[in-house]
Amino acid sequence: MREILVTGASRGIGFAITTTFLENGDRVYACARDVQSLYELKEKYSLLDPISCDLKDPSSVEKMFIRIGEMTHQLDAVINNAGISKIGLLQDMSVEEWDELMAVNLRAPFLVIRKALPGMIRAGKGCIVNISSMWGTYGASCESAYSASKGGLNALTRALAKEVAPSGIRVNAITLGAIETSMNAFLSPEERADLENEIGMGRLGSPREAADLVMYLCSDQSTYMTGAVIPLDGGF
Ligand SMILES: NC(=O)c1ccc[n+]([C@@H]2O[C@H](COP(=O)([O-])OP(=O)(O)OC[C@H]3O[C@@H](n4cnc5c(N)ncnc54)[C@H](OP(=O)(O)O)[C@@H]3O)[C@@H](O)[C@H]2O)c1
Repeated sequence: MREILVTGASRGIGFAITTTFLENGDRVYACARDVQSLYELKEKYSLLDPISCDLKDPSSVEKMFIRIGEMTHQLDAVINNAGISKIGLLQDMSVEEWDELMAVNLRAPFLVIRKALPGMIRAGKGCIVNISSMWGTYGASCESAYSASKGGLNALTRALAKEVAPSGIRVNAITLGAIETSMNAFLSPEERADLENEIGMGRLGSPREAADLVMYLCSDQSTYMTGAVIPLDGGF
């Protein structure tokens, strides 16, 4: 049985990742601020441990790892999935909004990885998967800060992969295209149709399709894969 930490697990892609690991028989430490949906999922899966954590707050991350440390000495995989987006012109963005977005999308993966690495290094193995976005590669109008945060996550992935490869730890990122979650609920029917027209496959992806790639990256089928920033976007 593997021990997995999934951030942003309460809905959307993180919920699908959590469910997929549980179906595989893995133990999952699943974090979000509101963990109600995870307690409902726990009724079906006893190997699920919901942990309430605000990833913006370094002391909350510390407390989460104290709790995890009471249950396990080493995580086999960490999935940095939690993320937020803000839509609007860059000049209209406040410093507080910029800082919040960077805190969740880029600083939190650093805080989580920093706490998870010592156990992985001791064990000589581990997988880290960062959930990124195609906008971190291409850039999106009216999502400059979000694009910058995900571009930073891609660079973190590539650099850290080199740093920890000698310790047997693999670090990869998935640059998702448009996935069917509440993050895209703001789209009007016309905007959604325009978006679908830009996607080769003509549809949004499902959270499960994202989860399947995460599973692959944490499996023995991908043992030579590290530092990879992999598009999963239906041919955008
Ligand atoms: N959906 C897409 O089209 C798409 C495309 C490209 C990349 N992505 C990336 O995929 C990841 C998941 O996106 P999603 O669409 O599944 O988003 P979502 O449905 O909005 O879910 C976001 C998750 O992150 C958690 N979260 C947000 N702020 C948090 C905080 N401060 N502390 C702890 N947890 C926090 C949320 O739980 P709480 O609110 O309860 O804390 C929730 O579980 C994100 O990194 C996103 O950037 C998504």
